[in-house]
Amino acid sequence: MKIAIVVGTRPEIIKMSPIIRECQKRKIDFFILHSGQHYDHNMDEIFFEELELPAPKYNLHVGSKPFGQQVGMMMKGMKKNFIRERPGVVLVQGDTLTVLMGTLAAKKVGILVAHHEAGLRSHDLTMPEEVNRILTDHLSEFLFFPTKDAIKNVNTEGVNANYTSMTGNTIVDAVYQNSKIADRKCNILKKLNLKSKKYVLITVHRAENTNDKKRLQNILRGLEMVGEKFPEYKLLFPMHPRTSNKILEYNLKLPSNIRMIKPLGFLEFLQLEKNAVLCITDSGGLQEECSIMHVPTVTVRDNTERPETIKFGMNLLAGASPEKILECSTKMLTKKIIWRPLFGDGKASERIVDIIKKQVKNIHKKR
Ligand code: UD1
Ligand code: UDP
Repeated sequence: MKIAIVVGTRPEIIKMSPIIRECQKRKIDFFILHSGQHYDHNMDEIFFEELELPAPKYNLHVGSKPFGQQVGMMMKGMKKNFIRERPGVVLVQGDTLTVLMGTLAAKKVGILVAHHEAGLRSHDLTMPEEVNRILTDHLSEFLFFPTKDAIKNVNTEGVNANYTSMTGNTIVDAVYQNSKIADRKCNILKKLNLKSKKYVLITVHRAENTNDKKRLQNILRGLEMVGEKFPEYKLLFPMHPRTSNKILEYNLKLPSNIRMIKPLGFLEFLQLEKNAVLCITDSGGLQEECSIMHVPTVTVRDNTERPETIKFGMNLLAGASPEKILECSTKMLTKKIIWRPLFGDGKASERIVDIIKKQVKNIHKKR
């Protein structure tokens, strides 16, 4: 029984890494198919190197081509390689275009699909990610849920998968597996001349925040105001290429109190995240990681598919208004938080591989 592990972007590589390690440990036959959606060294290869992952057997190099071309290239390349390899199951993770195309290509050639991080919903169909995850959940035979809320979401939609399980999210496994390695191998605070709990870590990349000049400008103003009110904290922004491209395109000026750097590898980034006094972000992964590493979070979005982080007071939704970003940051910098595990116990990858190993055969036998 062979598993096709599909990845395309930074968070997929990171969240698949514990599953890949588990497959290696158990000597399970698998191969990695990379769509090439992310391709810069620090958005792609760096994670394979740092996490010591085997190179993808196939890379479709779709790059930043126009949407229609990416869709066409992914369908063609995935279909061809799935037919060639005939895996027992195609495993996808998250909600990117690569995830949806991996699912559609597998369906087209009659291969089972397993979806890790199933059931997340922002209830906002204007987000490409919401469309991708809904379609993927409805087409998958296996759904691996990170939380109880995720189960509720698919139940209300009447999703009809063959096998569902609450496994937790492999991001917990990835943080546990790499946090100590990060401390041993990196010293990013010294490199950047930062002190623990004396800086705010920022990431912004989501389409709804970067495709709208006014909204991006408002977020930058909100960040600037946080720096003005709390001069004791530095503002550090490892910037996604999408955001730096947009800042250039819109001719926006980055406030002088924000220090922008290039995106970092996972180990250095984990260390930075763990030592931040606050994270201001629109990233899904950061909302999870901050709750795991006990870092208060302000999310610059109008909604989130990680509502548990809000419910338990670890995260606040600020939208994109400068005043609200300042208000939420002030609250999160002063509030006492009771931390609790929301996304699992670090054994999600073991559970997922167990289920795939046992249940894929059963489904094939019944067909
Ligand atoms: C994608 C996912 C998003 C995820 C994010 C993780 C979709 C629809 N979106 O968004 O859900 O949160 O990845 O980071 O799949 N770029 C580069 N170099 C790279 C990668 C991207 O320069 O290696 C720039 C290009 O200008 C590109 C833009 O970033 O056009 C957007 O990249 P894309 O992969 O389309 O979307 P993300 O915003 O990265
Ligand atoms: N990350 C990283 N380097 C960075 C910024 C983020 O390694 O400079 C990691 C981060 O730890 C998390 C993942 O990338 O695991 C989140 O990816 P992103 O925010 O791009 O996507 P999302 O989670 O929103 O889909």
